[in-house]
Amino acid sequence: MQLLGKREPDIYGSETLADLETRIGGIANKVGFDVEFFQSNHDGDIVDKLGVADKSADAVIINPAAYTHTSVAIRDAIKAIAVPVVEVHLSNITEREEFRHVSLTAPVCIGQICGFGLMGYEMAFNALEKFLKK
Ligand code: DQA
Repeated sequence: MQLLGKREPDIYGSETLADLETRIGGIANKVGFDVEFFQSNHDGDIVDKLGVADKSADAVIINPAAYTHTSVAIRDAIKAIAVPVVEVHLSNITEREEFRHVSLTAPVCIGQICGFGLMGYEMAFNALEKFLKK
C-alpha cells in the first residue's frame, strides 16, 4: 500500500497514500473524529497495532492488502478485539484472480467494501460513523 499511486495504476488508481489520508482526515474533521493512519509491510506489526487499537480506538478500517488472502495472524487479531473493523479493498477482488476471491479477514469484520478505489475508505468511515451511533 505504500506504493499507491505508482503500483499498477490501472487497478489501484493514481492517488497516493497521502491523498487517501488527506481525504479521510477531511471527513473525520467534519464529523468530529480523530483519525490515526498506520501502514506496515509486516503482518506482525499490523497484529501489534490491532492489539493496541482495541484500547485506543472506537473502530478500525483495514486494508490488509495481500495479507487478506493469507494471514491467519491478522484474522485472529481482528477476531480478538472488541472494536468494529471494516475491511476495504481498492479493487474489486471478486473479479480478479481466484486467489483474491478468498478473504481470511472479512468474515471477522463487520463488513467489507471493495471495488470503489479510495472512495471505499470514505464509505467505510461513513458507515462506521453511523454504526457507532446506533
Ligand atoms: C488490495 C487487493 C489485494 O488482493 C492486493 O494484494 C493488494 C491491494 C486492494 O486494495 O485492492 O495489495 O487489498
